[in-house]
Amino acid sequence: MIPFQNSMNNQDKIKNLIELREEAKLGGGKKRIESQHAKGKMTARERLDILLDEGSFEEYDMFVTHRCNDFGLEDQKYPGDGVITGHGTIDGRVVYVYSQDFTVLGGSLSETFAKKICKIMDQAMKVGAPVIGINDSGGARIQEGVMSLAGYAEIFQRNIMASGVIPQISAVFGPCAGGAVYSPALTDVIIMSDKTSYMFVTGPKVTKAVTGENISTEDLGGATVHTSKSGVAHFKAEDEEEGLMIIRKLLEFLPQNNLEDPPVTECSDPADRADDFLNEVIPEQPSQSYDIKDVIYSVIDQKEFLEMHRHYARSIVVGFAKFNGMPVGIVANQPNYLAGVLDTEASRKAARFVRFCDAFNVPIVTLVDVPGFMPGSAQEYGGIITHGAKLLFAYGEATVPKITVTLRKSYGGAHDVMSCKQLRGDINYAWPSAEIAVMGARGAIEIIEGKKISMIEDEEERAAFYNAKEREYTEKFANPYVAARHGFIDDVIEPRNTRFRVIRALQTLITKKDMNPPKKHSNIPL
Ligand code: HXC
Repeated sequence: MIPFQNSMNNQDKIKNLIELREEAKLGGGKKRIESQHAKGKMTARERLDILLDEGSFEEYDMFVTHRCNDFGLEDQKYPGDGVITGHGTIDGRVVYVYSQDFTVLGGSLSETFAKKICKIMDQAMKVGAPVIGINDSGGARIQEGVMSLAGYAEIFQRNIMASGVIPQISAVFGPCAGGAVYSPALTDVIIMSDKTSYMFVTGPKVTKAVTGENISTEDLGGATVHTSKSGVAHFKAEDEEEGLMIIRKLLEFLPQNNLEDPPVTECSDPADRADDFLNEVIPEQPSQSYDIKDVIYSVIDQKEFLEMHRHYARSIVVGFAKFNGMPVGIVANQPNYLAGVLDTEASRKAARFVRFCDAFNVPIVTLVDVPGFMPGSAQEYGGIITHGAKLLFAYGEATVPKITVTLRKSYGGAHDVMSCKQLRGDINYAWPSAEIAVMGARGAIEIIEGKKISMIEDEEERAAFYNAKEREYTEKFANPYVAARHGFIDDVIEPRNTRFRVIRALQTLITKKDMNPPKKHSNIPL
């Protein structure tokens, strides 16, 4: 390539520009691109090509280079400096993006690299458009020392200010270690690619040195660990392409920013579609389970459910769907897993999701079948009080339309927590199979009749007394009508009509306005 010279004529200057662009597009060069492919990874540009609408990408700062002259870096300058930034569109809507380029100095973050990211984040805030970050980096550029640390902190501060203003989505498609993990962690959603990505604060070597624990990279911070054990990541994608498609899908349910509503689309699934299956889904025996996802698929548009945190805290299901083209967030207890109990992890998972929906004006549909909070020392020591309070707080604070359908059990504190009427539930329906009470009949009889039962010596007589009391309690309390008589349930509905009733509720609430009192911010029990 001929280097740029002022003496060039205009045609040569244009040719030079084209060559410069081609050079920048090669990142760290062909060899490193091959090595990236050999690891089963795409390059930073290939990822953007798949993520964005064809031909929509506008790149910024392609000619930026680092300013470090130590440790031989003065001779290693790559146009763009290891991160590709700019904006494009997804389904015609503007998004800002950055994509870290591992082929350039391992995608490590320099001062100028950070400045490029900050520039697009600042512009995204002004425009009111989402930011999508693709992470694949060896972390702080070691040669730049504190400049790199400062660069990270500049990004963190922007992540914090943008939180709840514009959607922020992170893909992790390679290394993401040390303090670098905190930028994705501050965003709304993290997607990790299976087997090719990892996130940890300290890697296996330091872990071994400090704690003696021998653990592999994958077991310490791979996609499986973070989507099933820690809950740090929301999606595990089979490969990068699937991860990028998840991002595109996710944006279908979100507005561009907190001042807009999520986009409503045409729907070919009839709004009044009834489903007899729902009249049969609840087993006769309260101890029997069923799959709440069958209920979700039955009521939403075209069975299209984007489940978040699918492998984590499985006693509660959260995710996005549409009702007659209107995006909603669904929170549903899962009787198929630990009877749908609320434990520390389920509470945290659902609380974060409720706040995510509320921040971006996505109505919440809650499907309730919850036996209560998980008892035991492990849960109490693990802070179930604080974690349960998070979910309670999140629902009570949320001002978006809130529709609750109680399918079966709704006991005790868990009844209150799961978007009950008094937590400003807008429309609360129940199926005839609902049991809204302080606790289940068996537990209740043990407590209120325990002494009497223990005094009956004859076994048969004891069982008969127990059963009679259980029946009495069930008839009196284990139904939806006590709550309905008090107006805590707005209507008891036939299960087969649930889709239609939810759609009509959503249509009615579309103009809902609710406010929280002015304050600096709340003090949610973190
Ligand atoms: C500068 C780096 C780099 C870094 C990688 N490279 N990480 N250059 N700073 N942090 C360079 C390598 O020198 C190499 O250059 C190229 O990138 C590819 O790296 P390889 O090691 O050959 O790749 P691979 O074998 O795939 O290993 C990837 C890796 C490893 C596991 C990420 O590179 C690694 O351990 N890097 C250091 C990670 C680290 O300790 N980072 C600092 C963490 S502290 P050449 O020219 O040979 O191709 C941190 C603090 C953030 O990030 C704090 C924020 C608050």
